Amino acid sequence: MSYTVIYAGTFDPITNGHLDIIERAAKLFGNVIVAVAKNPSKQPLFSLEERTLLVKQSCVHLSNVQAVGFSGLLADFAVQHQAKALIRGIRGSDDIEYEIQLAQLNEQLEEGLETIFLPPAVQWRYLSSTMVREIYRHQGDVTQFVPPFVLNALKEKE
Ligand code: COA
Repeated sequence: MSYTVIYAGTFDPITNGHLDIIERAAKLFGNVIVAVAKNPSKQPLFSLEERTLLVKQSCVHLSNVQAVGFSGLLADFAVQHQAKALIRGIRGSDDIEYEIQLAQLNEQLEEGLETIFLPPAVQWRYLSSTMVREIYRHQGDVTQFVPPFVLNALKEKE
């Protein structure tokens, strides 16, 4: 389909699980905007600029994907970018209640704004940015979980 969809998250940092969802969305839709949320409530390790750059670097092989930082409501961001739908990854049953709540609220904030759920590949089912940071903090090897640019960025944060 040749329309624009948005995949939003904090991406602190982007993981291979996120990238898997982005690659699937890029095959299905004309344009994918990866919306990197400022999200001060999470006190991110990487700044908004750093997180956005890491998403950009990790998606250079995908010509119809762009990364944009945002603050404020996701529904407003979607309107500004004329997006038809939001993409969300559903990793398992634990994600479903929360995701349906988000989808309904976003549709109430912006009528007609749909949410499309995509399951990530099974090997990323238990992955999250917090887990990557946690493993790395304890000197664990995160090579299999993140794109190469993220590995370097984590080393620079030491
Ligand atoms: N692979 C790996 N990890 C994944 C994943 C996947 N496919 N999908 C989700 N995750 C992880 C994320 O990395 C995140 O991990 P973390 O908590 O360790 O950082 C966790 O699962 C939760 O992900 P998510 O629910 O996407 O949270 P988020 O913080 O990344 O993004 C926003 C949430 C930004 C989409 C949401 O807060 C938002 O829309 N904010 C804007 C304000 C707004 O409009 N609010 C009203 C919404 S109704």
